[in-house]
Amino acid sequence: MSKYYLTTPIYYVNAAPHIGHTYTTIAADAIKRLKRMQGFEPVILTTGTDEHGQKIERAAAAAGRSPQKFTDLISQEFRKQWEVLGLQIDRFQRTTDPKHAKVVQDLFDRCVKSGYVYKGSYTGQYCVFDELYVNEAKPGDPCPDCGRPTETVTEENFYFKLSAFQERLLKFYEDNPEFIRPESRRNEVIAFVKQGLKDVSISRTTIKWGIPVANEAPHVFYVWFDALSTYMSAVEGEGLWPADLHLIGKEILRFHAVYWPAFLWAADLPLPRKLFAHGWLLFENDKMSKSKGNMVRATPIKEALGADALRYYLLREVVFGQDGNFSYDALVQRYNSDLANGLGNLASRTLALIHQNCGGLIPNGPGDPAIAQTARIAVDSALDSYEWLNFSKALETIWTLISAVDKFIVERAPWNLAKSGDTARLAETLYTAAEALRIVTALVFPVIPESAAKIWAQLGFRTPLDAIRTANLDWGKLASGQEIEPASGVFPRADVKTMIEKMKEGEAAELVRQQTLMGAKPAADPSHITIDDFIKVDLRVGEVKSANAVKGADKLLHLQVDIGEPLPRSIVAGIALAYKPEALVGRKVVIVANLAPRKLRGLESQGMIVAASLEGGNPVLASFLEDVPIGARLK
Ligand code: MSP
Repeated sequence: MSKYYLTTPIYYVNAAPHIGHTYTTIAADAIKRLKRMQGFEPVILTTGTDEHGQKIERAAAAAGRSPQKFTDLISQEFRKQWEVLGLQIDRFQRTTDPKHAKVVQDLFDRCVKSGYVYKGSYTGQYCVFDELYVNEAKPGDPCPDCGRPTETVTEENFYFKLSAFQERLLKFYEDNPEFIRPESRRNEVIAFVKQGLKDVSISRTTIKWGIPVANEAPHVFYVWFDALSTYMSAVEGEGLWPADLHLIGKEILRFHAVYWPAFLWAADLPLPRKLFAHGWLLFENDKMSKSKGNMVRATPIKEALGADALRYYLLREVVFGQDGNFSYDALVQRYNSDLANGLGNLASRTLALIHQNCGGLIPNGPGDPAIAQTARIAVDSALDSYEWLNFSKALETIWTLISAVDKFIVERAPWNLAKSGDTARLAETLYTAAEALRIVTALVFPVIPESAAKIWAQLGFRTPLDAIRTANLDWGKLASGQEIEPASGVFPRADVKTMIEKMKEGEAAELVRQQTLMGAKPAADPSHITIDDFIKVDLRVGEVKSANAVKGADKLLHLQVDIGEPLPRSIVAGIALAYKPEALVGRKVVIVANLAPRKLRGLESQGMIVAASLEGGNPVLASFLEDVPIGARLK
């Protein structure tokens, strides 16, 4: 059977691993197990760390360490995180590995040879956080992606002729409709490429912390040219390239769907077969970010509920490809309803009944034909959903089978059959339950491997569940007479409140540990913030230039606020019930200037206006008794 090579993004080491990184890596691990089940051999999963660039250099400096020491430390954190969660990583590739540098240089040389690289110079705005030139920005403008201030840079760069690939890319997307998944993301990429592609700079001279371009000091490779190559360097010389799947978050799709194919074509190398861009995991419906302090880490969840509970929750709750919400409450609820009461209950009940009534031996098959048919349909449908990486749908289907079997057991009432001595019907009932349990266990294995393996062993199998193939999922493969193990609960019920408290306590401790690692001096009490945290909030004095009602939203006003920048800020504020638009013009207000921009009712809001919010009453804008100049910072 053929190989299957898949990758996660190579994570930046300017942040320690959190649940966002975990989400992608868990999904990749589930896909890996699924592909093995489908018979691919070998199945190789690459992840790693993206360790070069200014952002990392600055994070290292902030932590008081050399870039190499710092990246060693944080890269190790990622490696350990995947170990703690039991993820089957085959290659962990660091971009600071000398083997990787060779592959990057080779890719560059090939692009030079084919005539797709030239030298040019650039003056403009650069976003250090996104490692991206912002062509349209002027000095003082924020980055359109992340809202952080851009910096003006002038440098000589090597450029890659991306513009030469526009038509070829569009034709490729057209001819390979499965290349970018899901469909909505594919459409976004096509629309982007149709707008026209500019050449991209692939080297930097202003940065030291990067892979040097051979014989071209002081040029180092642009981090994305460096990072994308990791997918190849991780399996260099193994005959595994091209990758069958790059699994990524939606925010980095452009690099993968536009730059990467063009680099590979220029170098005359094969393209990856598929890109799947999943959505964002939000926390209480808000984007998780370090600056908001609303990030969650995986280890405390694993310690409280187990890695499988987290895996199941993430893949069941969120439709893969769309944004989804993380909440501790929903996690525990799902654990109790689906794992403890659903699968766990079916397993313990079935095994206990076989112990009580059949001396611990699987009774004679082939079981009930109606349930056998339900199971066949469920297997086909779940495998089909898995194939499309629609985990939530696959799991939903598997759980309908669990419910059908539960109902079947209750209706058959094997305890009554035992009393009345109807041994044939009793055997049929229990074989049906056990065979359905076998099939369910195998089907959930990619998602909850540790628990599935426990149930598998309790069903009396000596061969590891890892070795199961989809062909073994046919009804009736469970051998009569197989001796089962004593049943022991796999998913003990959790008390919601206690469990949430436990996870939150663990999270607070893990946060402090990670912050210390990153060089921050954390506040002694995790509910306190340090002055460094406060300084991050850029509060400015502004003057309202115009204020208008927002159509269809009676609480909102759309303001233009001058904070001393070349252009006033567009701000949408929920103050319409308290202030008439005309009363605001000329008034001095306080705004949060470095909030990531967001769209409200189709209007861009580039900041937030500060007001006292009164319980049940109207907001009151912060203002000053003395005169203050526009643009003054509050600190
Ligand atoms: N270093 C680049 C990737 C280079 S790949 C050649 C990078 N690194 S990152 O550390 O920022 O990781 C981004 C990836 O982490 C996302 O694409 C996604 O896979 C995962 N996620 C990080 N936060 C996430 C959420 N809140 N939700 C979902 N996935 C998230 O970009």
